[in-house]
Amino acid sequence: MGNVTVIGAQWGDEGKGKIVDWLASRADVVVRFQGGHNAGHTLVVGDNVYKLSLLPSGIVTGTPSVIGNGVVLDPWALNAEVEKLRGQGVRIEPDVLMIAETCPLILPIHRDLDAMREDASGAGKIGTTRRGIGPAYEDKVGRRAIRVCDLAHLDELDPLLDRLCAHHDHLRAGFGEPAVDRERLKADLAEIADFVLQFARPVWRDLDEAKRRGRRILFEGAQGVLLDVDHGTYPFVTSSNTVAGTTGSGSGMGPGAAGFVLGIVKAYTTRVGSGPFPTELEDEVGQRLGERGHEFGTVTGRRRRCGWFDAVLVKQSAAVSGITGIALTKIDVLDGMDRVKICTGYKIGDTVYDYLPPHAADQARATPIYEEMDGWQGTTAGARSWADLPAQAIKYVRRIEELIRCPVALVSTSPDRDDTILVSDPFSA
Ligand code: IMP
Repeated sequence: MGNVTVIGAQWGDEGKGKIVDWLASRADVVVRFQGGHNAGHTLVVGDNVYKLSLLPSGIVTGTPSVIGNGVVLDPWALNAEVEKLRGQGVRIEPDVLMIAETCPLILPIHRDLDAMREDASGAGKIGTTRRGIGPAYEDKVGRRAIRVCDLAHLDELDPLLDRLCAHHDHLRAGFGEPAVDRERLKADLAEIADFVLQFARPVWRDLDEAKRRGRRILFEGAQGVLLDVDHGTYPFVTSSNTVAGTTGSGSGMGPGAAGFVLGIVKAYTTRVGSGPFPTELEDEVGQRLGERGHEFGTVTGRRRRCGWFDAVLVKQSAAVSGITGIALTKIDVLDGMDRVKICTGYKIGDTVYDYLPPHAADQARATPIYEEMDGWQGTTAGARSWADLPAQAIKYVRRIEELIRCPVALVSTSPDRDDTILVSDPFSA
């Protein structure tokens, strides 16, 4: 039994929540290793719907859940999420939730900066979640961050605040904003410190111990490979590495930690925020996908852009992230369509590409080359075996496998945990 890493293979929102929840019930530990509360995972368990942003999905089933050092942590958002889930009857205590002492904090000044930049960018805006993710990672890499362990040393916070505020005051002045209210920030940190510290641990040691005992670790990725700061559609990306290779560095485990890399892939494509999207449909087909797929962001409520399945991009994601197998989700959204299309290449001017070139201008000009197939009239919703699927839907899945050069490990046919066709079990592969 090895570890499993779940990552999104498109632009996020592939339906990771359900798959992670399903796997979490069989894992011994669940670990978040990148991103922050920009993520939004919806878990449907029976009649209950849980919306998670920062907490690992294992929390709902009481599986020990770790927020690794690669995550940027907003303590106030964490507090609100913990309170909300406790209100739904979920037990969240230090034996279930463990937070790396080295996690950098997202502070109100990061949220401010995120919003100021977006507001000032006009048409060039990234379309971020405005949660302060990018600015917090900048301060981490710039060696100015306040980290979880600093909350246990409030007496020694001043020199850190000097460095941090000096940097932010310059940036804020550029936007015509007043300097950071440093005393307020210090007081806010002092007030939230105990709440965070009750969960703070050297999680690398816990994970090392878990590994030595042969425990099954589930790494829960956020966002998607196409939003990766190195491999995504830069600059329209998030500020972390979303690829599976980040599991080791983002948790304090070695490079072999990832185990089976399960790429979550929606049977069509969606994106929130700005940036290139070659197969985007701005017609009634796109609208239909959005309506049937309930394509609104969990975090910001924004309408997601929708388009046909892009096999070129998913093939690229599978390669750069070392995906072992995919979980195909939301195939039922395509039920009843006369024809379906899959993108197999791009044309930019007269040149044909079998990958997405890196320059934003090329990406914006790329027109898709499509392969068309007949759709299917029966329903795939709720199917739990191949025999439940219309023949043409199976053909669609098999064609996707072929084009992305990666096998399907499971197919999800509704938000319900049990509506899943299991082809191979990632934990025993
Ligand atoms: P940020 O992560 O808030 O900086 O946003 C950067 C880009 O990533 C924007 O296009 C967001 O819409 C996108 N993004 C961030 N988190 C998610 C997510 O969980 N799902 C989908 N898109 C996301």
